Amino acid sequence: MAQQKTILRALAGERLPTPPIWMMRQAGRYLPEYRATRAQAGDFLSLCYNSELAAEVTLQPIRRYGFDASILFADILLLPQALGADLWFVTGEGPRLSTIQSQADFDALIPANGVHDKLAPIYETVRILRRELPSETTLIGFAGAPWTVATYMVAGRGTPDQGPAHQLKDENPALFQQIIDRLVDGTIEYLSQQIQAGAEVIKLFDSWAGSLKGADFDRYALEPTKRIISALKEKHPDTPIIAFPRGAGARYVGFAKATGADCVAVDDSVTAEWVAQNVQPDGCVQGNLASSHMVTGGENLVSETRRIVKALSGGPHIFNLGHGITPDASPENVQLMIDAVRSA
Ligand code: CP3
Repeated sequence: MAQQKTILRALAGERLPTPPIWMMRQAGRYLPEYRATRAQAGDFLSLCYNSELAAEVTLQPIRRYGFDASILFADILLLPQALGADLWFVTGEGPRLSTIQSQADFDALIPANGVHDKLAPIYETVRILRRELPSETTLIGFAGAPWTVATYMVAGRGTPDQGPAHQLKDENPALFQQIIDRLVDGTIEYLSQQIQAGAEVIKLFDSWAGSLKGADFDRYALEPTKRIISALKEKHPDTPIIAFPRGAGARYVGFAKATGADCVAVDDSVTAEWVAQNVQPDGCVQGNLASSHMVTGGENLVSETRRIVKALSGGPHIFNLGHGITPDASPENVQLMIDAVRSA
């Protein structure tokens, strides 16, 4: 049957006259309606686990802007929480987790197939969204990639250089590999259930892949991603997968082929022209407008947007930012970006 949704057409390798658009963190604090619903839920985690309200904030940017895709509202740290880690968010600072530093800490985690009770509200959010989204809007489910999630599980918080995770992988590679393996298995469980509930596309966020060099990049970014994708493809061959090894630089080249991903999302450290030459020949690419333009706006936003659309117009492209939109962005600049893409 002919595929109608634009995001699915791009992911299947089709070059479209106007690239479909969505934004990382499109449901977020830059929107007053998001802040109001989060206040109603109480706090961020309560919002994630409240299926009705999580569906509501997912729909807000679709209603306001008519994006071509919506991304399930949740967080990459819900999986470690379902695996038994304590998780809480400190307002204005970010996530905090109980840490994993010893074999005993690891042994206290629960098995990968035990995550579903805790994550059931997330699957319910997906089911609500499939009922309520406009028929032309694609629903993206997601998880963190194992390396990125492990950096939080080991350090117990976000870190500028992922130092604690690097230290553990270097000092106790066997323990670190067990963490990665549990995350690979848990992620396969989690994403399979998202797909069964109705997610049409999956995205894997490896936000800290850029701090892995050489063989470490292969072992901890590429290999776990490949294992997750091949397991998902076995069960759900028709669900496209977007990989986002943020900061991969030269390692973006060949990443889709090596992992089986249908699309590689690129950050703003590489130019769209370079991506067109080196990454897009292998298939669909997504990105790569610098998020800062959503704060500063104006002619620079419009010209950069047009430049990216033009540079990537020779192949399949999904327009997005290079990373998430920030709370200080202006909702008007989002509209300016969309108008620039659709009139480019
Ligand atoms: O993109 C979307 O709109 C979907 C929802 C989504 C969130 N987080 C909601 C969120 C997605 C896909 C994520 C992914 C995520 N979460 C990543 C990978 C992508 C990236 O940004 O690199 C990471 C590393 C996390 C972990 C996380 N969650 C951190 C470090 C923080 C605090 C930093 C910050 O921006 O405040 C969060 C909180 C978070 N996740 C918020 C949202 C909307 C803000 C919380 C709030 O509303 O108070």
